[in-house]
Amino acid sequence: MTNPIKQLPKIIKTARLEMRQLEPTPENAQLVFDAVKNESPADFYFNRICNTNLVPVSANEMLKQMQIESQWIADNGVNLYIFHNGNLIGYRRLYFHDDPTKTLQMAAVWLVRSAWGRGFARETSDAVEKIAFETLGANRITRQCSVDNVRSANSIRSSGFHLDGIARQGGIYHDDKLYDNMIWSKLKSEYKGK
Ligand SMILES: CC(C)(COP(=O)(O)OP(=O)(O)OC[C@H]1O[C@@H](n2cnc3c(N)ncnc32)[C@H](O)[C@@H]1OP(=O)(O)O)[C@@H](O)C(=O)NCCC(=O)NCCS
Repeated sequence: MTNPIKQLPKIIKTARLEMRQLEPTPENAQLVFDAVKNESPADFYFNRICNTNLVPVSANEMLKQMQIESQWIADNGVNLYIFHNGNLIGYRRLYFHDDPTKTLQMAAVWLVRSAWGRGFARETSDAVEKIAFETLGANRITRQCSVDNVRSANSIRSSGFHLDGIARQGGIYHDDKLYDNMIWSKLKSEYKGK
């Protein structure tokens, strides 16, 4: 049976933003590359935009990344590109585990630096919650971030997630350094509606 996350609309609108599913085509890779090419790699140490370089150095490198990411989500996920006023500003990846745990996993998120501090991560997270609990029938949502990623931890906490615990040395950065991984969740019973 097809995972219900695969039935989501290709464009999801929030008050200020749109989340669009983009196919890994050369045109879309150019669009993403143009949006991120001037970003500072240091800003994406905790969640790289690209596996090879933290920030891709060519549209072709971005295309390869998009192809890999579309394989990752083939069975049970979606890649959502975030747009503000028609401009691409970020990305989220979601998986839905359609087993008895009914878990929506918010796996990755990044925004271009100029979009930080405006509540955009929060706004897309709220929209994902609504979809998870009201459309997909999720019972829980999970998120993770490094203990060192203060901005991400603040964003997740401010969205009302519960810190389940810290998986010591449970994550690894691109430079092979291990990090302590904060594990967060929100249950349907804690969802207040959006
Ligand atoms: C993690 C990341 C997405 C968080 O972005 P963010 O903009 O800080 O997150 P939020 O959407 O929760 O915004 C909160 C900030 O917006 C401000 N804000 C402004 N308008 C707001 C609004 N309407 N609603 C909510 N917050 C608002 C808040 O005051 C807060 O500012 P502060 O951090 O200066 O206190 C971003 O830092 C990022 O892309 N980092 C690099 C990649 C990364 O590390 N990803 C996470 C991997 S786990």
